[in-house]
Amino acid sequence: MKDLAGQVAIVTGGGRGIGRAIALRLAQDGADVVVADVNVAAAESVAAEARGLGRKAIACHVDVSRKSDVQAMVERILRDFGHVDILVNNAGILGPTAPVAEIPEEEWDRTLDIHLKGTFLCCQAVIPHMIRQRYGKIVSMASVAGKEGNPNQAAYSVAKAGIICFTKSLAKEVATMGITVNCVSPTVVETDLIKALTPEQLAPLLAKIPMARMGKPEEVAALVRFLVSDEADFITGQCYDLSGGRSVY
Ligand SMILES: NC(=O)c1ccc[n+]([C@@H]2O[C@H](COP(=O)([O-])OP(=O)(O)OC[C@H]3O[C@@H](n4cnc5c(N)ncnc54)[C@H](O)[C@@H]3O)[C@@H](O)[C@H]2O)c1
Repeated sequence: MKDLAGQVAIVTGGGRGIGRAIALRLAQDGADVVVADVNVAAAESVAAEARGLGRKAIACHVDVSRKSDVQAMVERILRDFGHVDILVNNAGILGPTAPVAEIPEEEWDRTLDIHLKGTFLCCQAVIPHMIRQRYGKIVSMASVAGKEGNPNQAAYSVAKAGIICFTKSLAKEVATMGITVNCVSPTVVETDLIKALTPEQLAPLLAKIPMARMGKPEEVAALVRFLVSDEADFITGQCYDLSGGRSVY
């Protein structure tokens, strides 16, 4: 695998958890990184870690569900770096953990806006540039929830299912333009996100994992690293599972 020297990567939700691990893995392997997050202090701290690895790195305050934020971020990157080569759509929230009958409409909308619209907006903002340069690698964070449909997580599951299908649609649109578009679907990964689950909600999810453990952010980062590498040039429109054997299809 060639290193990523000279490439610029955006990692949304890069301020902590899986996004932080991805940003640092890409920086470790040579990429300059843009850490985009609503929590700009967290993003700045990760950007500082990436600079410590010898890379150019900046933090951007971005709510991925707001088109104006996303457009401003990409304009700044093109001004400061001149190009963008890798986009990792990772920002996300768990959303409502409740039966469908009890999900507030605004929480449903917010969950879909961040995951699905956010992924759409970020792709839409970088794609014209990637088409012009005839190169780009896009990886989005789906979830096994988006394949299986977790009970009491309908908004999250639907948003992730949407990301899987969006990945396939976009991948076909740009397949001859030097751009690959893939997604990854982890099962439970040890981050702050799952702290929103009660032990009763978490136990059945863990019981489904044949390896009987949670995934690690670094394991997700390793798969993303492969998918943005030259070794994965013929892979597009795919959804790769990291589930300790739980995969459903
Ligand atoms: N942890 C898991 O078990 C798991 C499993 C499957 C998929 N995922 C997905 O992986 C991604 C990362 O999850 P994580 O566990 O690291 O979560 P996390 O909560 O630890 O980190 C999410 C990051 O996204 C940022 N963020 C939230 N809303 C945002 C917005 N509107 N705009 C920009 N940034 C925003 C947060 O500030 C935070 O830094 C999410 O898309 C999540 O759905 C997580």
